[in-house]
Amino acid sequence: MAFGHIFFATNMMLTGLAYVWKFVVAALAFAFASLLVYYVPASRRPRNFPPGPPGLPVLGNLHQMPVKKLFLKFHEWQKQYGPVVGLKLGPLNVVVLSNYKPVRELYDKRGNIYSSRPDHYVGNNLICPNEVHILFQPYGPTWRALRKAAVGLLNGPSIESIIPLQQAESSQTMYDIMQTPEQWFEHLRRYAAAVVLEAVYGQRGATYDDPKITGFFEIEMAFAEIMAAGATPPVDAFPFLKHIASFLTHYKSLAVAVGNKQKAFYNALFDNTKARMNRGDTAPCYMQKLLEGSQQSGLSHDQLVYVGGILLEAGSETSASNLHLFVLAMISHPEVLKKAQKEVDDLCGDSVSPSARHIKDLPYMRAIMTEIFRWRPLAPEGPPHMLTQDDWYDGYFLPKGTIVFANTWSIHHDESEYDKPADFIPERWLNNKFGTTAGGDTVDGDNRRVTYAFGASRRVCPGQEMGENSLMINMAKMAWAFDMKADPDSPPDLDARATYSDSFVGGPHAFPAILTVRSQKHREVLERDHREAQEFLRRYED
Ligand code: HEM
Repeated sequence: MAFGHIFFATNMMLTGLAYVWKFVVAALAFAFASLLVYYVPASRRPRNFPPGPPGLPVLGNLHQMPVKKLFLKFHEWQKQYGPVVGLKLGPLNVVVLSNYKPVRELYDKRGNIYSSRPDHYVGNNLICPNEVHILFQPYGPTWRALRKAAVGLLNGPSIESIIPLQQAESSQTMYDIMQTPEQWFEHLRRYAAAVVLEAVYGQRGATYDDPKITGFFEIEMAFAEIMAAGATPPVDAFPFLKHIASFLTHYKSLAVAVGNKQKAFYNALFDNTKARMNRGDTAPCYMQKLLEGSQQSGLSHDQLVYVGGILLEAGSETSASNLHLFVLAMISHPEVLKKAQKEVDDLCGDSVSPSARHIKDLPYMRAIMTEIFRWRPLAPEGPPHMLTQDDWYDGYFLPKGTIVFANTWSIHHDESEYDKPADFIPERWLNNKFGTTAGGDTVDGDNRRVTYAFGASRRVCPGQEMGENSLMINMAKMAWAFDMKADPDSPPDLDARATYSDSFVGGPHAFPAILTVRSQKHREVLERDHREAQEFLRRYED
């Protein structure tokens, strides 16, 4: 009896199991067939789509996309297929623009349809839900409101009001480099974050190990890691992957945790500024203005909090990385540093260091800066944009929803435009506004941009002027104050692969450089500048 029961039960179980298995197999087969029915045709190239490498059914060109240094692969493809390349990432249509002409025509002239962002499930749903982060917002009212709030800091009189801060923080940074030159890399990073902290929140980040500075860079690193290509499955190309059981999708909880940390950090900065406002001891700052006008802005509390965070994110690593690239360029091109030093010496002598009022009179230094943007543009493949309606360019059809990259690397390394594009030659900018060889399309007023390192379209970086002011002030002060040399035991590696980290923004990893003060006189000026800067910066202390 007992055996009978057991047999019966076992038999029932096996029958049940067989049934379940049959069901699972049938369901999987059905799901797979449905996927094939949808994904095989969807992965074919549309008619009249721009040329590109042949792909595989379902995947398209997905398997050919490198996880790192995508811009170099795009550069290789444009040599083979021309300045407008079409790719398929599963069902997604992707177009890469590699010359300024299509970028000018599509991004700048037709900016109303080329300024959106593609869906980013991880960014928009897991890390930053509730439409708080400008980076992920599609073109539309939310993006417009966030951009308006961010731009309030970055135009007209507001930009002018930041200059004394940039100057004082730069003086502090030169002093820090003089005291601990082996930490020059961190001092420049601190500079970039500290300026935004003060301008936006009225709060100070006086040292690199201040929790506001280290906390911010730690969160940025976690954000960059989870956002890096290959860190998460391709859920935007294959949305069914979102529904795979959560034990296989550790990335989801990781992304949510990064988002929670980020939000807590920005909330703490925001609350601190509010508390200081309530006590009546706020240093003048942009968040105060935003809070006072928050009724009119129509932004939610979280969006307001994130406007501050966005400015911190967008303005810190970008400015710092360009300053790191400046040091890299100087230690690898001593003849350029010599010329830069002569220019600042002729203007300032040795009893004052260059400051904001000098930067308009430093054409060679400006040429160095523009050459850095060309030589090693940050975000070298350009952030992805999304086309919001069907369009045609040069006989090619670009369907609505196409993801478009303006590959800054190719635009600025075009051999038909630039003489020896791989080389660092600031002089190319002295006689030609666009840095191109004679005979190029260098006519004023043709809407060509001098640099594409800040993007293009209605999405173009609104912080260019603030960023350039930071770079010019610091580069001029550094060239004036320090001799910069490569470490003979560790010469700089200038290969493009080595000079880009694989983070979201992509400046170089830390590298050794020897910075020494040029004379006792220079040292005394740096000490005096530092004392004056401390006086000015005191108001931002807690
Ligand atoms: C100094 C070097 C900088 C570089 C190279 C740089 C580069 C860029 C690039 C490539 C974009 C994307 C443009 C696109 O989507 O096509 C961007 C967007 C943005 N940048 Fe900058 N940036 C810099 C500094 C700054 C600064 C100092 C701020 C403000 C504090 C800032 C604020 C922003 C904002 C708010 C956006 C988002 C714009 C939008 O989506 O509408 N940037 N930047």
